[in-house]
Amino acid sequence: MNSVINIANVKKSLGNREILKGISFTVEKGDIFGYLGPNGAGKTTTIRILLGLFRADSGKMDILGQDIGLSQIRRKIGFVLDLDGLYENMTAEQNMIFYSQIYGLSNTGERIHKILRMMNLEDRSGDKVGTYSRGMRQRLALARSLVHDPEVLILDEPTAGVDPSGQIEIRQIMLDIVRKENKTIFLSSHNLDEVQRICNRIALIDRGEIKLYGELENLRRKMGKGAVIIETMHDIPESLMTELKNLSHFGLKEKKERTLVFSPMDGTEISDIISFLASRGVKIEEALKKEASLEEMYEAILKEVEPS
Ligand SMILES: Nc1ncnc2c1ncn2[C@@H]1O[C@H](COP(=O)(O)OP(=O)(O)OP(=O)(O)O)[C@@H](O)[C@H]1O
Ligand SMILES: [Mg+2]
Repeated sequence: MNSVINIANVKKSLGNREILKGISFTVEKGDIFGYLGPNGAGKTTTIRILLGLFRADSGKMDILGQDIGLSQIRRKIGFVLDLDGLYENMTAEQNMIFYSQIYGLSNTGERIHKILRMMNLEDRSGDKVGTYSRGMRQRLALARSLVHDPEVLILDEPTAGVDPSGQIEIRQIMLDIVRKENKTIFLSSHNLDEVQRICNRIALIDRGEIKLYGELENLRRKMGKGAVIIETMHDIPESLMTELKNLSHFGLKEKKERTLVFSPMDGTEISDIISFLASRGVKIEEALKKEASLEEMYEAILKEVEPS
């Protein structure tokens, strides 16, 4: 059994509003699972439930095959929440020691140094956290979440407020955590580019409902919004343009000088378009298939569910 987090039909109301309306998804071992959604969608509420900070009203859920909230399961989870919970007057190293003591660990010196090194914080580990930049604080919060060597990390927007180069650094660290430390990451994020770069699977939540879920690559292929772009070596005669426009399954979108952009229908491949052009004597300089971007999918889904 490779599933790390399993959530089935989980509902949660706060006050008199239903915040989660029966959400379901599975996070598999080794995933960097991207949990996306606009402000107020229910991401942090989901995370609070996963961490046992909120109790769901109904539904089934487990982490590593065990009930959420059990103390033995909590030891297998590391997390970073929006408030980083770091002590400003303590150094990075002291913060790490403090947290390892909370987990009842001793002799963690070597592990703490290894983690701080991995986070590129070793040089500054003796400095007080109050002197840290936002990016350094976020890396330290990640470091702290690893202190007890958990199997799964639950991260609520770990790159929020961090500048682009700091985000790249944190992304690389997240990839290293999964690949080298053999862990699983559940990552809530607003940053579509980030999710597109590092996540293999995603769920998109909107107003308490999951609207899109699965392998990112498969979703990109199936959403069918990808484009085929063909650069030709010479101008295309008008008669051929008319012919192309009439082949509706090619979905010709635009022509700019020698560049043709298609949005082909399901079942039509880039090779079909290339063969057709070749059969009409067109010489092709370049042809490429661009997959749908996560941003296009996100917009398409959120537009679909706009209230009428
Ligand atoms: N303790 C609470 N009591 C009442 N309502 C709450 C509480 N916490 C959150 N909510 C409401 O639940 C909804 C979902 O909030 P949540 O924090 O889960 O969203 P989110 O997806 O994390 O948003 P963001 O991207 O802004 O962090 C919001 O409408 C919020 O106002
Ligand atoms: Mg949130």
